[in-house]
Amino acid sequence: MKGIILAGGLGSRLRPLTKVTNKHLLPIYDRPMIYYPLQTLCDAGIREIMIVTGGNNAGDFLKLLGNGREFGLPHIAYTYQEGEGGIADALKLCEHFASGDSVAVVLGDNIIQNSISAHVERFAQQRTGCRLLLKEVEDPERFGVPEFDGERIIAIEEKPKVPKSNFAVTGIYMYDNRVFDYARELKPSARGELEITDVNNAYIAAGDCYYDVLEGWWTDAGQFESLYRATQLVAEERMKKALAPA
Ligand code: G1P
Repeated sequence: MKGIILAGGLGSRLRPLTKVTNKHLLPIYDRPMIYYPLQTLCDAGIREIMIVTGGNNAGDFLKLLGNGREFGLPHIAYTYQEGEGGIADALKLCEHFASGDSVAVVLGDNIIQNSISAHVERFAQQRTGCRLLLKEVEDPERFGVPEFDGERIIAIEEKPKVPKSNFAVTGIYMYDNRVFDYARELKPSARGELEITDVNNAYIAAGDCYYDVLEGWWTDAGQFESLYRATQLVAEERMKKALAPA
């Protein structure tokens, strides 16, 4: 399985913080944001990783991460997304890198408390399809929101005004290689982007979408409130670890 981190976009919801740099280079407590999704993939044992960047600061990722030695990696692959075509548009750039393999995709602003190893293992046992990670939230209207029929997801709505559940589809996705076929067929949404939610709905329509509910905290960091929250959560975690007996 290959790993992909999507770290493009213009970060317009965080202006002026993102006026002269990429959102994913901003600090979350003591590290740049991109460190967290990279650590998430490394902790799950994924060694081949591609980072999709964009905007004016793509070169800074190379300066910051190089070949990933700090993370124990032998190499990091990079690619560049022009403009703001959306998450699924960024994913399309990784087809060559995936070269027929399945992929674990993490949005560069998604930060979690625990390891995703168990979920990756469960996905590896699936022969086909996708595996989504959900989290119950107080503000589902900010996210992709699943609609359930019993235990089964029957649809996902992107940022619905009236959410059909209290769950967010987090920005951690596992896909078989069909993801690139689905991404190729997408049409831009009302906000002019290729939506990852439409990819997920294609898997649901094919009857091949599975999910787990994440334990531990999860947050995005794409808006001022969530960026602040991410910093607080990470700071608390570090302090807990510092106080824990050796
Ligand atoms: C994106 C996805 C959304 C998902 C969220 C998780 O939203 O479109 O479905 O729930 O990431 O962070 P965006 O951050 O682009 O608004």
